[in-house]
Amino acid sequence: MIIPVILAGGSGTRLWPLSRQLYPKQFLPLVNGKTLFQETALRLGQNPEIAPPIVVCNEEHRFMVAEQARQQDVQLSKIVLEPAGKNTAPAAYVAARLASELHDDPILLVLPADHHIRDLSMLLSTIEIGASVASAGSLVTFGIVPQYAETGYGYIERGEQLGVDSDAFHIKRFVEKPDTQTAQSYLDSGKFYWNSGMFMFSAKQFMQELERFRPEMADACQKAIAEGKSDLDFFRLDAANFESCPSDSIDYAVMEHTAHGAVIPLYAGWNDIGSWSALWDVKDKDENQNVAIGDVVSEDSHGSYMHSTGRLLAVVGVRDHVIVETADAVMVSPKDRVQDVKKLVDKLKSKK
Ligand code: GDD
Ligand code: MG
Repeated sequence: MIIPVILAGGSGTRLWPLSRQLYPKQFLPLVNGKTLFQETALRLGQNPEIAPPIVVCNEEHRFMVAEQARQQDVQLSKIVLEPAGKNTAPAAYVAARLASELHDDPILLVLPADHHIRDLSMLLSTIEIGASVASAGSLVTFGIVPQYAETGYGYIERGEQLGVDSDAFHIKRFVEKPDTQTAQSYLDSGKFYWNSGMFMFSAKQFMQELERFRPEMADACQKAIAEGKSDLDFFRLDAANFESCPSDSIDYAVMEHTAHGAVIPLYAGWNDIGSWSALWDVKDKDENQNVAIGDVVSEDSHGSYMHSTGRLLAVVGVRDHVIVETADAVMVSPKDRVQDVKKLVDKLKSKK
């Protein structure tokens, strides 16, 4: 049985001021009428080989997750509540242990809740391949043909084909978030994929790998489960034990070290909605290549993302900018500087 695990505990700071601590980006309807979390939960459709997803999120967002699933008639296996975010490795490990209590030797399909995917039938057929490769003992990643030297992604160097006629390849090297120069050299070599951030592996194998590479992390998670509490659909991890868990991502904790990594190329119109410029990329644009949302009027402006949630936003002579208005904050940035919105948020946090 395939059990999807939706990781929905990130903070989405690069989409400030719309994405906030109480309302991070995965719970906002950014691309179409549905929130990114809803899009993720609906993506797999009805399939007898795929169980209802396990969601792992911050305790603060429990009712939002339950309500957003209910709105779309999405059934969930469980909602696992983290007292604090410890990044994706502990979240996936906890999900793997709980999934193994629900089914015999399940295959996990780990899905970030912050992606947009255009071609769902292509995604589903690639997942089918992923399931058989994962059942045969690989930790599967889905590789995207890189378009530029993005430093916010993992890079996967493709090795030999896994078998004759196989759509999967050994992973020669997995490098999480390289610097710009390294990313550019990977791009130029033509041998690398971007890591899409979705994974498929047997729960048992992932647990073994994490227990081997990060025993202290696995130990803290086991205790947080043992002393955790079930409450209807929710499973609340024990706070003291989970707080003591080291924080790290699947990519750094496991994928950079495992000898069992495999990559399957994915051609499904994948986008990480990681920043305002990524959102501009996926949205429909007007004849001036602008995206205008809400009460916006513009003159002689081009290539910009303009978003008002209340007040009239009036823009003249702007090129390639992002301007976002909310009730308590307005953010303006050139489109090629939007990665630094994270720095703004860090600055604001340190002022508090
Ligand atoms: N439950 C839980 N707890 N979920 C989390 C936590 C946490 O502490 N931290 C992050 N997440 C969720 C986010 O909400 C998101 O859906 C997913 O896990 C991935 O986390 P990100 O923080 O968005 O990771 P990233 O974008 O920097 O990097 C990952 O994705 C890239 C592609 O989008 C990596 O896998 C990269 O290698 C990859 O290229
Ligand atoms: Mg992300």
